[in-house]
Amino acid sequence: MTNILAALRQDHCNLGQLLAVVERQLDCFDRGETPDYDILLGVLDYCLTYPDHYHHPKEDMVYTRLRQLDPARTESLDDLQAEHRTLAEVTRHFAKALRSVLQDLEVPRETFGQATREFLEKYRQHIGLEENVIFPAAEACLTAADWNAIEAELKARRDPLFDDKGEARYAALRAEILAWANEDA
Ligand SMILES: [Fe+2]
Ligand SMILES: [Fe+2]
Repeated sequence: MTNILAALRQDHCNLGQLLAVVERQLDCFDRGETPDYDILLGVLDYCLTYPDHYHHPKEDMVYTRLRQLDPARTESLDDLQAEHRTLAEVTRHFAKALRSVLQDLEVPRETFGQATREFLEKYRQHIGLEENVIFPAAEACLTAADWNAIEAELKARRDPLFDDKGEARYAALRAEILAWANEDA
């Protein structure tokens, strides 16, 4: 397995843990209890930045190369970049619903529940498509030279000072969210 795919799969694992945390809070909300809003804010802090900054650019490059190598295979699939824009939208929508609840604005309970459910469903469906279809196709089609070219481009784009600090911050945030969630459980 390439380093890039290994890192992308690890990101999916990490995101999956955060989605499970959100789902537990949603169950709590559905039972009429008060969810831990700090935990949800933490997950949103993570999901509003980490995927678009660190995760999706890598996937977009892999997908672009896959498209060049095997257009027929990608023809029937949704455009990954468009999916990433949709994910950003549903995440912002979830953030807006949460902010409204916290500001005591008149938000019907159902609106918050729906925005949260939509966020979970869209993320899970998207990760499923990548894990089950796109990544195996990329593994089958891209050569070592393709992966090296993507690695080189990622390296060239990288701002070490900003990116290393950013990655460390998001890893710490994730650990913190999981620790809070365990305390709550
Ligand atoms: Fe993606
Ligand atoms: Fe992904």
